[in-house]
Amino acid sequence: MYRTHTCGELRLEQKGQTVTLAGWVQKARKMGAMSFIDLRDRYGITQLRVDETCPEEVSKIAAGLGREYVLQATGVVEERQSKNARIPTGDIEIRLTGLKILNAAQTPPFTIEDESDGGEELRAKYRYLDLRRNPLKNALMLRHRMAHEVRNYLDDKGFLEIETPFLIKSTPEGARDFVVPSRMNPGEFYALPQSPQTFKQLLMVAGYDRYFQIVRCFRDEDLRADRQPEFTQIDCEMSFVEQEDVLNLFEGMMRHLFKSVINVDIPEKLTRMSWYDAMDNYGSDKPDIRFGMKIHEITSLVQGKGFSVFDSVEYVGAISVPGAAQYTRKQIDELTEWVKRPQVGAKGLVSIRVGADGIKSSVDKFYTSEDLAAVVEAVEAKTGDLVLVLCGAKRKAQTMLGVLRLEMGNRLGLRDPHVYAPLWVVDFPLLEWDDETQRFYAMHHPFTAPKPEHLELFYSDKKEDLERVCANAYDFVLNGTELGGGSIRIHEADVQSRMFEVLGISKEDADYKFGFIINAFKFGAPPHGGLAFGFDRVCALFGGQETIRDYIAFPKNNVGRDVMLDAPSRIDDVQMDELYLRSTAPVK
Ligand code: AMO
Repeated sequence: MYRTHTCGELRLEQKGQTVTLAGWVQKARKMGAMSFIDLRDRYGITQLRVDETCPEEVSKIAAGLGREYVLQATGVVEERQSKNARIPTGDIEIRLTGLKILNAAQTPPFTIEDESDGGEELRAKYRYLDLRRNPLKNALMLRHRMAHEVRNYLDDKGFLEIETPFLIKSTPEGARDFVVPSRMNPGEFYALPQSPQTFKQLLMVAGYDRYFQIVRCFRDEDLRADRQPEFTQIDCEMSFVEQEDVLNLFEGMMRHLFKSVINVDIPEKLTRMSWYDAMDNYGSDKPDIRFGMKIHEITSLVQGKGFSVFDSVEYVGAISVPGAAQYTRKQIDELTEWVKRPQVGAKGLVSIRVGADGIKSSVDKFYTSEDLAAVVEAVEAKTGDLVLVLCGAKRKAQTMLGVLRLEMGNRLGLRDPHVYAPLWVVDFPLLEWDDETQRFYAMHHPFTAPKPEHLELFYSDKKEDLERVCANAYDFVLNGTELGGGSIRIHEADVQSRMFEVLGISKEDADYKFGFIINAFKFGAPPHGGLAFGFDRVCALFGGQETIRDYIAFPKNNVGRDVMLDAPSRIDDVQMDELYLRSTAPVK
């Protein structure tokens, strides 16, 4: 037996017992005739003491230890002279009677401490060392707990966990596919699934009724803090349900996770906000409702007064930033530069200061004090507030105001990661027009059903009609992040074919890519719907972080590389030949 206890386990109750522990040297220090070793494992840290009562062999081994050596240590549990209240084992130490080096270790390239001295790249290269640190260990433990509770909840509700394949057919619609060449089928490729969407729908056709899977998904898209090329979904589908059934069941799951994993209570019934309200009031389809500072339209109040910038646009909107009237000229100039950055994309910023001494704006020469007072009233600004105004095409200007609102929320400290404000965003438009390619795209995905009351509009040839079609689609949003999304699906073959037609996918192309599902719908498809949560995102937000990387044991960096494996990498010519491949990429 390697050990009798873990390094996180011993307390004063075990005083006098002889125990054996195994673990890594966190720290070894000498103090006069005595030396102390902090021994660490997954469960905690226990202090080992070596003094003149210990066998000479033990003292000799202890003198030669380095950080991260792996040890087996035997000794007697004793009460500590100077206790350490910061760790659960801080009342005791082990006076050693035996010590064995199980394995020596090179000095690690960075410190294995909560706050490491290693840069991100270095820690990524030695991920297995980084994973020894508490913040990462805690993140992975939270992830495990979360997966466990997801399974508990869904099993309790009658869901079956069913696996679906990873080698599937390429049907790029949202992001790009990762593809895998097939040796046995020369010149042909599998794709890795962006999600198990079609399979879970086929499981509904097959009568499985309530399905879920904690499943890896693969998307070749630009990466951000909350995006990885391979990530995990809690993927779910149900038959014979309406939107409200799905929302209730899954807000129940989130309530269960909040309570069981981080002991947070969320409201009994979550807000359902329409996509249109979210865009109008928050400039985002994933509104952060931890704070107010809503967007107000002021177009009619500011047009026709001779200010050509406002007169020439579709929409003028504003937010009122509480207590920011004392912003200096320099601060406002800096904010103006900030909104002009390409990430925001505004041409300029108009500000109105609501001071105790009156209202002052950067466009005073065009507006009377009554005009400005009307704006101040419309945006519900109070004395001491600063009103910030942006303009442009309606949705674009709202989106810019939404980004500015979040920035001001950050600057004012209104976005506490330990305050949780979940909601559903519902009633999404079914389709989104893209000017560049002159075609519609499915806002969620091509299997999402139009609302039954919009079915007639859906068969119209007019672009304006199609733009008005809404879907029973919904997103679960937490603190400005989309944690999950789903919809009630199309379950009739003719509606599905119409969808492909509206998306400009020819009948031949639709048959080639999606024939299997169109066919399946002809064999008795039940009404069904579902959703998927981004599991990594749920874990990160529960842990109070926006970056998902630390909640994934072996993540990719921001250009999709695994720095530890040095992947992706070239494959040798024999492998290339077997796969009938030639690379045209320049040799590095
Ligand atoms: P969707 O594409 O909205 O829906 O994805 C569902 C959720 O997955 C998470 N997510 C990601 N997380 C990390 N890295 C990524 N690259 C990434 N992309 C998405 C998000 C998102 O809300 N099949 C549908 C679901 C359905 O309709 O049932 C789907 O995949 O949190």
